[in-house]
Amino acid sequence: MPGRNLRVLDNLDAVARTAAQWMHDRAWAAVNARGRFTLALSGGNTPRALYRAMADGPRLPWERMVFCFGDERNVPPDHPESNARMAQQTLLAQPFVNQSSVYRIRGELPAEEAAADYEQTLRTLFPGTTAFPTFDLVLLGLGPDGHTASLFPYSPALAERSRWVVANWVEKLRTKRITLTFPVLNAASEVIFLVAGEDKAWALKEVLKGTAPISEVPARGVVPPSGRLTYLVDRAAAAGLVQST
Ligand code: 6PG
Repeated sequence: MPGRNLRVLDNLDAVARTAAQWMHDRAWAAVNARGRFTLALSGGNTPRALYRAMADGPRLPWERMVFCFGDERNVPPDHPESNARMAQQTLLAQPFVNQSSVYRIRGELPAEEAAADYEQTLRTLFPGTTAFPTFDLVLLGLGPDGHTASLFPYSPALAERSRWVVANWVEKLRTKRITLTFPVLNAASEVIFLVAGEDKAWALKEVLKGTAPISEVPARGVVPPSGRLTYLVDRAAAAGLVQST
């Protein structure tokens, strides 16, 4: 099993620039090796800087990139909270992105229907898959409570072991989300967590050094057995990792 890597960078801008360079390298490697690069994008705010850096950075093999999402809010694509909308605004609305290779989760549907619909979409993107789809790269964020994608503490989706995509009731938000499940995240060839800000220090320490159950800190459940796992973090988020003297 490839190891777990941690890179601590000065700030979010440095995290974004490093992630964009890694994305470039991995995208061209995948395209040269297999003709395409399958990517599951993260939602939230942290990746905005990365998506902008990707759009403005060294040329990517855009026409060979397949853009999917790790999760979505149960809202239409023009809603301010939509992850698809955020990705469109920061990355995917660029003229060089082939819109037919952007596969958003249809958050405008009832959550269970959106999840089933997206799983069918993924099954067409990964034909012949008997277990779980292997994304070339899954991008994840980390919530202050230790959630990732829309796998929140004590939420029902944490227990899912067969479906690829599920609707998940998030008690603290009093809403449903649609999310990839642990088996899909852990089937990835590579997972990169982007973590920035002091509000993530507790969660990152729990993920990297803690022993809490996955139910309490879901991001601890992302351990791809044959994929690379890297945490790209800024100093503020890493504050809890410094050995206390
Ligand atoms: C979402 C994300 C979620 C996010 C974390 C961190 O839909 O919001 O998938 O898992 O990555 O909540 O969010 P920030 O980057 O905004 O801190």
